[in-house]
Amino acid sequence: MRMKKLERLAAALPKAELHVHLEGTLEPEMTFHLARKHKTKFRFPNAEALRQAYQFKDLQSFLDLYYEGAGVLRDREDFHVLTMAYLEKAVRDGIWHVEPFFDPQTHTARGVAMKEVVEGIVGALKEGEKRHGVTWRLIPCFLRHLTEAEAMKTFEEMLPFREHFTAVGLDSSEKGNPPAKFERVFAQVRDTGLKVVAHAGEEGPAEWIREALERLQAVRIDHGVRCVEDAELVKELVEKQIPLTTCPLSNVRLCVYSDLGKHPLKQLLEAGVSVTANSDDPPYFGGYLLENWLACSRELQLEERHLVQLAKNSFTGSFLSEKEKAQWITKIDRVVSSLGGGSSS
Ligand code: ADE
Ligand code: ZN
Repeated sequence: MRMKKLERLAAALPKAELHVHLEGTLEPEMTFHLARKHKTKFRFPNAEALRQAYQFKDLQSFLDLYYEGAGVLRDREDFHVLTMAYLEKAVRDGIWHVEPFFDPQTHTARGVAMKEVVEGIVGALKEGEKRHGVTWRLIPCFLRHLTEAEAMKTFEEMLPFREHFTAVGLDSSEKGNPPAKFERVFAQVRDTGLKVVAHAGEEGPAEWIREALERLQAVRIDHGVRCVEDAELVKELVEKQIPLTTCPLSNVRLCVYSDLGKHPLKQLLEAGVSVTANSDDPPYFGGYLLENWLACSRELQLEERHLVQLAKNSFTGSFLSEKEKAQWITKIDRVVSSLGGGSSS
């Protein structure tokens, strides 16, 4: 009974998704469809065999397969179809605003032009906004396993498309690649008026969350779950209301936690951190955003107030204007009252 009520609320609440990698939304069936289209060989015989290979021991074992899969994305139409497919799922989950990541270097290194990638994605985001009313802000990321010089070169290639971007992120293999490695390129990013977000404290230490905040001047931290190892840092995140975009199912599939019951989402919510729950790379980790919320509701015994706070944080932590954020908070409160719920913060 409790779960039925929470499921209804979770589905009905307006939500924003702040942590999803477009390349990570590639469903195995689409991988095979695109491999056939481009007449490329793929080392798995079919989609089911590929899905069976989604067993990871850490972030790197996932990234190896993720980059291999992304190799089937070759032209503007592929990026358009990929993005549209994600948006359809987002609409199904009650998401009204998305801030997806993509990794330009994964494609430009294979000879795919930046223009094909960006225009394919942006065309779909515009179509999704027109068709479904889902607003968006787009975030290209630098791959942290590559050098800062390569990030600089990529940033120059991104500049003609600057108008489409709101922030630049940092993702890929965290171990061995601290935020400070990219200090100079992110100074250039900020000089152009773009915001900075960074994956930090997923597998790397809490100290790298501080480093991303101080040396890169990141305004939002992706994952950030290892902040719980540093009480002073948690205090600072609360005081400054720095959003953390956590991805609970991802953390379990990549063995950051042995089970969802150990995930710090509820602890962070109760401490007053502006934490959100997102999907990261949904087909790889067994669920889109709503499935993340429902799994957490079950395994962490979340209550109505937690879900309402997650919905509010997803908008307040976004790059929407203050006015738009306030409008979403009002809408969330209306949905809660229409379902006969109590109010939250
Ligand atoms: N790229 C796609 N998913 C990622 C994750 N969870 N961490 C770092 N880089 C990623
Ligand atoms: Zn991520």
